[in-house]
Amino acid sequence: MPSGALHRTVYMSTAVGVLRAEELDRIYLRAKSANSREAITGLMLFYEGVFLQVLEGPAAGVTSLMERIRRDRRHANLVVLESGAVDTRSFHQSPMHFIAARNLSAGEKQAFSELSQAVAARPAGLPGGLGLSDFLAAFAAAKPA
Ligand SMILES: Cc1cc2nc3c(=O)[nH]c(=O)nc-3n(C[C@H](O)[C@H](O)[C@H](O)COP(=O)(O)O)c2cc1C
Repeated sequence: MPSGALHRTVYMSTAVGVLRAEELDRIYLRAKSANSREAITGLMLFYEGVFLQVLEGPAAGVTSLMERIRRDRRHANLVVLESGAVDTRSFHQSPMHFIAARNLSAGEKQAFSELSQAVAARPAGLPGGLGLSDFLAAFAAAKPA
């Protein structure tokens, strides 16, 4: 794939109501199969009712997937943290690498909570110093599940 065509979007959102484990599984399984058809890779974290998802792949595919995800009523308060062209994939290991809350270290949980609080406090104008790239780098380096 030509490097210029690669796009990455990172967003956070909050689950609507209590999302049952089966519903989460359904989202994840759907994401895995649909994303692999579209050459989209990424990461999904879910902790304390908050999603963080990274989607990377061809710009058109990522954009149309984001339109579908935005319409999904199972979550709300979607805030895009980052969106733009990238040279390489950071999460090439899987069409959707899901990390369950129980697999997050104490430090990662803390960092995730701080990030989601910062986003909730400043949904319109995100400060540059969120530490998002450092936070994500820890997962990009992670072993495939
Ligand atoms: C937090 C969250 C993340 C999602 N991630 C993906 C994804 O990566 N890929 C995907 O195909 N669907 C994902 N979905 C599901 C889509 O929102 C949507 O239900 C699905 O693409 C089917 O769309 P359609 O009914 O318009 O065809 C996600 C849903 C939620 C709530």
